[in-house]
Amino acid sequence: MRLSLRRCGRLAPVALALLAAPAAGQEAAGQEAGGREAVRETAIIETIELPAARRDGPLSLEAALAARRSWRRFGERALRLEEIAQLFWAAQGQSRPGRRTVPSAGALYPLDVYAVTRQGLYHYRSADHSTLLERRPFLRDSLFAASRNQEALRQPPAVFVITGTPARSAAKYGARAERYTWLEAGHAAQNLLLQAVALGLVAVPVGAFRDEDVAAALRLPAGEMPLYLIPVGCRPDP
Ligand SMILES: Cc1cc2nc3c(=O)[nH]c(=O)nc-3n(C[C@H](O)[C@H](O)[C@H](O)COP(=O)(O)O)c2cc1C
Repeated sequence: MRLSLRRCGRLAPVALALLAAPAAGQEAAGQEAGGREAVRETAIIETIELPAARRDGPLSLEAALAARRSWRRFGERALRLEEIAQLFWAAQGQSRPGRRTVPSAGALYPLDVYAVTRQGLYHYRSADHSTLLERRPFLRDSLFAASRNQEALRQPPAVFVITGTPARSAAKYGARAERYTWLEAGHAAQNLLLQAVALGLVAVPVGAFRDEDVAAALRLPAGEMPLYLIPVGCRPDP
């Protein structure tokens, strides 16, 4: 099959809906130099049922492998909810009951996957293929600053964040749990990168960032470490 990495079109209705004004009750949030949120927004957390993930597609695995490359600039179109859902599923979704699209030592699944968009913070829940959404429209700026202003983090439509909680694996694997968590993040990241190609999107895996700043921005609980940032979007206009 001939591979064509299609350019992303204009905003779809669902994406427009996702870009709607902040929810009622949300405080205005400002920015400080460095992109940090100056005002902590009211935590408004919604649960969103995600569209079912596709288990088939027009691109072969070999074509996706051959086409994958790192992109650090993106078009402006927001990701559609179906695209976010598919990328979540590729990274950590259920493949069959109790098992996921990635291998995991002892099937203990120490990873979590988030997506940060202009809407705020999505936290994937693989058990029921849903996501929590916390509306924090300036969160991407914090990730840009945490990455020491890397171009790829400037204004990507979405940044997927893979985190690890080694304690989930430690009861069985002890000190080796941390190593397994890092290995598993690689599996999840590669799935996500290949799924992006299959969706006609582009991405880059980013490992250079200040861990404590990403953890603070996402308000991660103690013991949950950010492992990878993966900005994703459409190809930029030429
Ligand atoms: C562990 C890891 C960390 C990386 N960190 C960054 C990063 O911080 N910033 C960046 O722009 N690219 C980062 N990359 C992407 C590499 O620069 C890229 O994969 C490499 O140049 C090969 O190019 P390709 O992905 O297009 O094949 C990282 C890749 C890996 C595997």
